[in-house]
Amino acid sequence: MPAHVAVIMDGNGRWAQAKGLPRMMGHRAGVEALKTTLRLCSDWGIGALTAYAFSTENWSRPGDEVNFLMTLFEKVLQKELDSLEKEQVVIRFLGDLKALPSRLQDLINEATKRTSTNNGIHFNVCTNYGGRHELVMAAKKLAEKCERGDMKADLIDENAFASELLTAGEVDPDLLIRTSGERRISNFLLWQLAYAEIYVTDVLWPDFDEAALTRALLDYQSRCRRFGGLKPRGTSEQLESD
Ligand code: IPE
Ligand code: IPE
Ligand code: MG
Repeated sequence: MPAHVAVIMDGNGRWAQAKGLPRMMGHRAGVEALKTTLRLCSDWGIGALTAYAFSTENWSRPGDEVNFLMTLFEKVLQKELDSLEKEQVVIRFLGDLKALPSRLQDLINEATKRTSTNNGIHFNVCTNYGGRHELVMAAKKLAEKCERGDMKADLIDENAFASELLTAGEVDPDLLIRTSGERRISNFLLWQLAYAEIYVTDVLWPDFDEAALTRALLDYQSRCRRFGGLKPRGTSEQLESD
């Protein structure tokens, strides 16, 4: 099993349009798919699930869609917080949260606080998240440390850089799933996905269910991860005897 799964939940709008429904209904249905995915990942012992909910580029959508999404995040968080807390989920929101509506920010703070001492799956919701923005902010923080004299530029290495990212403390994703057939990463986790296995499915996000997640995990388990090295000797025999 991957220790960390990242998912680009794409295709809500197309799912709705294919059914002759407004795009918003797709977003609503997408929430159900996310709840199912979180529960399955937790049941199957996956340590972390990071989901892309709203990108820094998604502000360019029509105002009513953006407003609908912000209200939806608020409503869902309010409704689900008790069960997230009970189910030992540790929820965090990654992104530039200051730009979100203040009611949503308050709820995010409450949810983060109430679940921080839980001991279950780490559930990271990327909200107003952009990979480039995250990298720039990390560079800025390191530069400020250097200016203050708390850090020497010469000592900046990959660990120091990673510890300034929003995902600090989390292992890098082993598997990236993108639904709806798009073969791009759309500014998601640019640093952290360096060696992730990428799985693209044509399934639209609201239809992503247990069977679809199982297919993604089986595909992942068939991959040979080389990390720039060579295929370890006896790998295929190893797989067969597993
Ligand atoms: C993903 O579905 C959800 C968000 C980006 C918020 P889309 O809304 O991008 O759905 P499509 O790609 O238009 O079908
Ligand atoms: C990526 O989906 C962002 C989220 C899933 C939140 P988009 O639908 O915004 O990505 P593009 O525009 O197709 O690259
Ligand atoms: Mg999309």
